Amino acid sequence: MFAITGITGKVGGAVARRLLAAGQPVRGVVRDVTRAGAWAERGCELATARMEDASSLTAAFEGAKGVFILPPSEFDPEPGFPGARAVIDAVSTAIVKARPEKVVCLSTIGAQAHESNLLTQRTLMEQALCEMPMPVTFLRPGWFMENAAWDVASARDDGVIASYLQPLDKPVPMVGTADVGRVAAELLQQTWSGVRVVELEGPRRVSPNDLASTFARVLGRPVRAEVVDRQTWEALFRSQGMKYPLPRMRMLDGFNEGWIDFESNPDEIVRGDVELDTVLGELVSRSV
Ligand SMILES: NC(=O)c1ccc[n+]([C@@H]2O[C@H](COP(=O)([O-])OP(=O)(O)OC[C@H]3O[C@@H](n4cnc5c(N)ncnc54)[C@H](OP(=O)(O)O)[C@@H]3O)[C@@H](O)[C@H]2O)c1
Repeated sequence: MFAITGITGKVGGAVARRLLAAGQPVRGVVRDVTRAGAWAERGCELATARMEDASSLTAAFEGAKGVFILPPSEFDPEPGFPGARAVIDAVSTAIVKARPEKVVCLSTIGAQAHESNLLTQRTLMEQALCEMPMPVTFLRPGWFMENAAWDVASARDDGVIASYLQPLDKPVPMVGTADVGRVAAELLQQTWSGVRVVELEGPRRVSPNDLASTFARVLGRPVRAEVVDRQTWEALFRSQGMKYPLPRMRMLDGFNEGWIDFESNPDEIVRGDVELDTVLGELVSRSV
């Protein structure tokens, strides 16, 4: 049995679908069982646990052949990342106590970066899970194509997408969450020893201009990308309700300046096959 956290979300859901399709038993680890009825109907066992709660997580991981860890996103973390650290402590304690046979943890491109930024939350998770007594894989995907969900309304209504990724013609490693889930499910079913890092991107790199032209194709109207001036980011993020904009700004700097990147040789990076056209098509059709 594979215990899957984040099953009600994009990646965790894709992992579970792939495992079920391969005939593997799945235990969905959910914080709110009333949101997981569809998974019970598909034959999943359900366990209730919050990612910050070691004792319920331990029970959820017990007897598992493999565990998939999906660290919750925190876009506005307090200084020192206390939220991420609480998850890391609970997950580490639960893994040590429950002793699943193997662990696959969703991490991120750039988790190896030394500069503090939003992704440092995953650097800390990797550092903690490196110490676990069973085989551990860190899956480091690129920028999710689904992040373009934020751009659907402005692309459709105004023909513009606001880009923090700059310059507009710089290709960025991006990947669809269906590919991330498929690869995570494959990794869970493999046998390996020690700690390994698997980096993953989609079939081709995507610049902000590519995002705009793909939106244009999907929407059947002209769409252009527009740079959001770095000078305006902090005030803009604060006006959107963020209290601690710096980690997010530094993450964007990391992509733009190149210190958030893959570290493997190019021929070792796993490539998915989900195309940007497919993902944007789904985002647009879901928005109407
Ligand atoms: N966006 C990117 O470009 C990118 C790139 C690389 C890696 N990542 C990583 O991808 C992950 C996000 O994956 P996703 O897009 O699949 O997320 P998602 O669709 O937002 O789903 C998040 C899942 O986590 C669950 N969850 C959230 N907080 C929880 C908590 N405190 N306790 C238990 N469960 C909790 C949610 O459950 P509910 O249904 O109860 O809310 C949901 O199942 C993050 O770890 C992020 O670092 C993202």
